[in-house]
Amino acid sequence: MQHPPKHYLFTVVALTLISQFLPVVFTANPCRGICGSIAINYPFGVDDGCGAPQYRQMLNCTNDLFFITTSGRYKVQSIDYEKRTMVVYDPAMSTCSILQPHHDFVMTDIQAVIIPPTSDTVFALLNCSIDSPVLNHYKNLCFNFSGHSCDELYGACNAFRIFHSLTNSSPPCCFTGYDTVKYMSMNILDCTHYTTVINTDSLKGVGPPDWVYGIKLSYSVPDTGCERCTRSGGACGYDTETGGMMCLCSSSMNATRECAAGSIADLGEGKKLALWTNIHAYALLLGAFVYIIL
Ligand SMILES: *[C@@H]1O[C@H](CO)[C@@H](O)[C@H](O)[C@H]1NC(C)=O
Ligand SMILES: *[C@@H]1O[C@H](CO)[C@@H](O)[C@H](O)[C@H]1NC(C)=O
Ligand SMILES: *[C@@H]1O[C@H](CO)[C@@H](O)[C@H](O)[C@H]1NC(C)=O
Ligand SMILES: *[C@@H]1O[C@H](CO)[C@@H](O)[C@H](O)[C@H]1NC(C)=O
Repeated sequence: MQHPPKHYLFTVVALTLISQFLPVVFTANPCRGICGSIAINYPFGVDDGCGAPQYRQMLNCTNDLFFITTSGRYKVQSIDYEKRTMVVYDPAMSTCSILQPHHDFVMTDIQAVIIPPTSDTVFALLNCSIDSPVLNHYKNLCFNFSGHSCDELYGACNAFRIFHSLTNSSPPCCFTGYDTVKYMSMNILDCTHYTTVINTDSLKGVGPPDWVYGIKLSYSVPDTGCERCTRSGGACGYDTETGGMMCLCSSSMNATRECAAGSIADLGEGKKLALWTNIHAYALLLGAFVYIIL
């Protein structure tokens, strides 16, 4: 039997090695686990097919993490996976220190159900006309929180002093919850500006310049057996065509519920594969050298 030329052998060995090692590089969890400084865990995902299908296309990771709603892109400040809350901030919103033209905060129907603003997120409607529904038929939707009335904003905030100084009296205002702005746009409410404040339960004795402006959302986690998948070393995702739950085990394998339990049960799927690949590759390498030397 004639030996094949050595350069041919080297090519075969090299190709084999490359093809064996390549999957390892790409088998790591196919879902990004971080965006900027914010961890991305179930039910969220920034790559299509990752996370829960209900949250599909709600997050966009372009350097920073953004929460996408009907009314725009809101920068995600933090996600608390224990309390199941997410704090978002609208850079185009008025706050105590900056006055900006209003635009409505509008969520999709699904978002309003699975990730609505928390009850300690208060919407402050400012410079309302005396005909505003929240001053008439719906005035019971307005409240004061932690000892604060909305009139305080006109006096304490540089941005809102203008409302007061133009008329020499405070125009009507209203602190209210998300449900009010959900059913009534700013035009219907007849208020020219709004701002949102979070953690309102803990603002007793704290002045408006020191309040935290933003929107805190409370999300629900679909009960789809994700834990079982995570425990088996997979990442929870879904079929991008059917929307059905899937356990993403590696780039070459998806399972319905959990990644196949191997004999090296304690290692994650990626590590298991890497170990196997390494053994395989070293054996091949050894075999090739032995063959060449002989
Ligand atoms: C596994 O699922 C992901 C996400 O839906 C998809 O991108 C990938 O192509 C799937 N892989 C296989 C082998 O089916
Ligand atoms: C994220 O947003 C950017 C800018 O709007 C857009 O170009 C990109 O397609 C979005 N990515 C995804 C995955 O939706
Ligand atoms: C306050 O509201 C009135 C109408 O009710 C409007 O004419 C005025 O421009 C508003 N003030 C500011 C500073 O936008
Ligand atoms: C809120 O407080 C202001 C000022 O103390 C008061 O005039 C107003 O009636 C209160 N509003 C409600 C809804 O309790």
